[in-house]
Amino acid sequence: MQICRHFVSQLIRSVALLAIFSTVAVQAAEKRDLIIDTDPGADDVVALLLALASPQELNVMAITTVAGNVRIDKTSRNARLAREWAGREEVPVYAGAGKPLVRTPIYAENIHGKEGLPGVQVHEPKNPLAKGNAVQYLIDTLGRAAPHSITIAMLGPQTNLALALIQAPEITQGIKEVVVMGGAHFNGGNITPVAEFNLYADPDAAKVVLASGVKLTYVPLDVTHKILTSDQRIKQIEGLNNEAGKLVSSILNEYVKADMVHYGLPGGPVHDASVIAWLLKPELFSGKLINVVVDNREGPGFGQTIADWYDTMSQPKNVFWVENGDAQGFFNLLTERLARLK
Ligand code: RIB
Ligand code: CA
Repeated sequence: MQICRHFVSQLIRSVALLAIFSTVAVQAAEKRDLIIDTDPGADDVVALLLALASPQELNVMAITTVAGNVRIDKTSRNARLAREWAGREEVPVYAGAGKPLVRTPIYAENIHGKEGLPGVQVHEPKNPLAKGNAVQYLIDTLGRAAPHSITIAMLGPQTNLALALIQAPEITQGIKEVVVMGGAHFNGGNITPVAEFNLYADPDAAKVVLASGVKLTYVPLDVTHKILTSDQRIKQIEGLNNEAGKLVSSILNEYVKADMVHYGLPGGPVHDASVIAWLLKPELFSGKLINVVVDNREGPGFGQTIADWYDTMSQPKNVFWVENGDAQGFFNLLTERLARLK
């Protein structure tokens, strides 16, 4: 009887060990090579901190910057600030396009402030930009990458990737998937009644990326406007009592004011960080594969994403459209990862 009990307890132990190792193996297997293309920007900085605080799942190879919320010199400075605040100064920052492909440039200083970072003091980070332009970095890196190995998170206008695809269309070989913060359908727009800012700022670039045939996921206003701050959610971040918690709560408190007034909402969205949360915990979100086209014609529909949610036109399904998300799950993830930073 004694031998039998020992055997059973050994069996339970080995099954438990197997379960632990297989979980670790699954986690390790899911690690992504990631390039973040961004126009920091308040919510971009929160997204960068979330990504840089998650090295087990995300190998952030580089940050590439683009003009958008503010001009390229400030988006590039703010990207360097975010990596400094995250203690990840080994990650190179490459500056990219200073203006859209075709349209006249627009900015969002009314939302993100003159420095592109509301609620906090900015300074000149000690570590400089990497040498070379972001577009060339994308061409070189994606061109020589293992097949379909690199994920690109697009948190601003898609100008850099569009320029790279125009110059070297073969770079799609290195792209695993592109996850875009952008677009709007059920929610309506935030820069016009129908257009979301990133698409409106460079719809021609978005059309180039759509036409490239890469695996595309959009994280539009339809979902980001369901993942809103609240006093309690900002307090849980502030309550971390570390530098990162102070920075993010100060940034968000300032950043969300405009949206709360404009939409009459009890809180504001953290658009770009929702893309990183999707990469880290896709189970927090839901959506479906649909057909999406972008309107780049001058007029009231300029920059609109026409999202065929009900498949009315029976066109090829070219985008996974994220339409819903678990707001508290998002803020718990954000808080847990910011706790890892200084
Ligand atoms: O519409 C929201 C998007 O536009 C976000 O990426 C924000 O940073 C701005 O770039
Ligand atoms: Ca952005």
